[in-house]
Amino acid sequence: MRITYLWRLVRLLSVSAVFFLSAQILRVSLGKHPPKPIPLSAEEYRLISPETYQYILNQPAVCKDRNPFLVFMVPVAPLEAAAREAVRKTWGAPSQDSLTLFYVGLPEGGQVSSIQHTLEEESRKHADIIQMNFQDSYKNLTIKTMMMMNWLAVHCPNASYAMKVDADIFVNVFYLIRRLRSSPRQGFITGSVIADGRPRRDANSKWHVSEELYPEESFPWYVSGAGYVFSADLASRISWASRFVQMIPLEDVYIGLCLRVLGVEPVYSRSLLTLRNLFEIRKLKYDRCTFAKLVIVNGFNPSELLHNWQDFSKGHRSC
Ligand SMILES: *[C@@H]1O[C@H](CO)[C@@H](O)[C@H](O)[C@H]1NC(C)=O
Ligand SMILES: *[C@@H]1O[C@H](CO)[C@@H](O)[C@H](O)[C@H]1NC(C)=O
Repeated sequence: MRITYLWRLVRLLSVSAVFFLSAQILRVSLGKHPPKPIPLSAEEYRLISPETYQYILNQPAVCKDRNPFLVFMVPVAPLEAAAREAVRKTWGAPSQDSLTLFYVGLPEGGQVSSIQHTLEEESRKHADIIQMNFQDSYKNLTIKTMMMMNWLAVHCPNASYAMKVDADIFVNVFYLIRRLRSSPRQGFITGSVIADGRPRRDANSKWHVSEELYPEESFPWYVSGAGYVFSADLASRISWASRFVQMIPLEDVYIGLCLRVLGVEPVYSRSLLTLRNLFEIRKLKYDRCTFAKLVIVNGFNPSELLHNWQDFSKGHRSC
């Protein structure tokens, strides 16, 4: 009698254990395996297809006789000449290892505006501006990002790494290049990983995404758009994957969705000892030796960048 009771209990427990485990396995596999990619309609793809837009300014030969180790790709608004100037004089200064290019769309007023005229003058002087004919706006940043990916795939396929980075970021290019020397050469992307992103359904939010555009309740892992680094092979692969991913106006999430199609997961970058995130997307007050141990810090206006860089480039080695 006693033994039968125990036996029943054991059976009950094992059956529930099996149920529990299979539910877990199902959950994990459902979570890991994204919806099967379905190609976009021609009309949907047209929005982000590189075929849709034409170059107004281009630098098709910058990688002709060299294979840069690192290409900085900086999206900026046409009017932000001061930001471009600060980047050229700081971390974006051309070097043996790196080169920097700025990506702009059309200014307000289009190709006949005085902003355009000034931009073309700047482009003649520095030969580092790439412009395509879509309206430059916050909502169009996904288009700009995909144009940058396509540009790299077509015009600089032999670069080792590329970094998409905003102009108001402090980049510790010295530490970054040192770390990259021992990073994977393919299928690699790192930055500030966001693992728990969700779509904002509030129509007033700057980051609003409708259910129609993005029906899922969470985002796959992605890296914050402030600054992320990837092996250059990913540029053409992400471009290819965009044939399966409907445009949403969140450029960094969009790259995450393309990575999911490719089965590529972004990698965290942390310091070995403190586990601190090396891609600091908050604003921090400048401190030479704190910054020497980070790859990026967010939130610098052009004059702050110029001012702090003077101290940093001279002093970071002594930290
Ligand atoms: C994005 O660019 C396209 C092409 O120039 C333009 O038709 C559209 O109005 C732009 N969207 C926004 C929100 O600026
Ligand atoms: C890239 O490298 C390949 C193989 O080394 C070479 O054939 C090709 O011409 C290079 N392309 C460019 C744009 O430098």
